[in-house]
Amino acid sequence: MQAARLPNPGPTTEAPQARPEPLLYLGALNKTFGPVAALSGLQASVGPGEFVTVVGPSGCGKSTLFNIVAGLEEPDAGGILRFEGKSCHAADLLGRVSFMPQRDLLFPWRNVVDNAILALEVEGMPRDQARAKALKMLPEFGLAGFEKQYPNQLSGGMRQRVALMRTFLFERDLMLLDEPFGALDALTRAMMQRWLLDVWQKYRRTILFITHDVDEAIFLGDRVLVMTARPGSVKLEQVVDLPRPRRPEIVTSPEFVRLKRTLLDAIEEESMKSFQSSIAQEKPQ
Ligand SMILES: Nc1ncnc2c1ncn2[C@@H]1O[C@H](COP(=O)(O)OP(=O)(O)OP(=O)(O)O)[C@@H](O)[C@H]1O
Ligand SMILES: [Mg+2]
Repeated sequence: MQAARLPNPGPTTEAPQARPEPLLYLGALNKTFGPVAALSGLQASVGPGEFVTVVGPSGCGKSTLFNIVAGLEEPDAGGILRFEGKSCHAADLLGRVSFMPQRDLLFPWRNVVDNAILALEVEGMPRDQARAKALKMLPEFGLAGFEKQYPNQLSGGMRQRVALMRTFLFERDLMLLDEPFGALDALTRAMMQRWLLDVWQKYRRTILFITHDVDEAIFLGDRVLVMTARPGSVKLEQVVDLPRPRRPEIVTSPEFVRLKRTLLDAIEEESMKSFQSSIAQEKPQ
């Protein structure tokens, strides 16, 4: 595994340096669902303001990891979770991070604004105040003039922007985005990526972002975590040392292509393992 750019807590033999405490630290995380081991010995850390992308074979435990960090699932006993420098249980994180789940979960009976303010309302903000806040943000999310529309009147990209806006409005230092652009065509996706980087740079949130698209993982990330086949752990932690702001043409630069090759090799190895174990399970005994 490549050297992590951020420190893990615990004793160190290095000369003392003022290195920032990670915003989030996960150590020795296991999660089983009955006979299925979803995560095993996962270790990762995310620094304040970082944009970390996560790739890995389908079913390797990426969403499970997010559910734990969002406080929706507890890991098995023995794992370490630290947030803002303090040890905690997953349940303590509920409401402390903003989370866009893999499915956009817009309510069909609520219009754009009322979908966007859902988390604020749940938090107890008066509806008028929450609506005023959301209305101000609409243009930035490319949704100006669409506040009264319902989800079935929006394109796939617009629905994803509403879900993203909901996540942004719930102002937390850490945002978890689970394949937020998964359903988009290549062109819309490229536009959304550039837009997300602009918004991230403006608001300086910390982002953990799951994707199946290696180009997207490199283009957006400060680091890319490649997960192993299930049970998931971090196989490779790749620093993306490309200049920001990232320009679209960076994807053809030699440095980008070299990073892509490294990541694809790692992902392919894990995808093959995942495929082989799924075939083994199908074989008659
Ligand atoms: N609530 C649950 N109950 C039982 N099994 C679960 C539950 N959540 C996840 N799993 C299992 O854990 C494993 C990991 O699932 P997870 O959704 O985390 O994968 P993923 O990496 O997000 O996959 P994908 O890329 O397809 O979204 C799978 O085998 C899945 O069936
Ligand atoms: Mg998933």
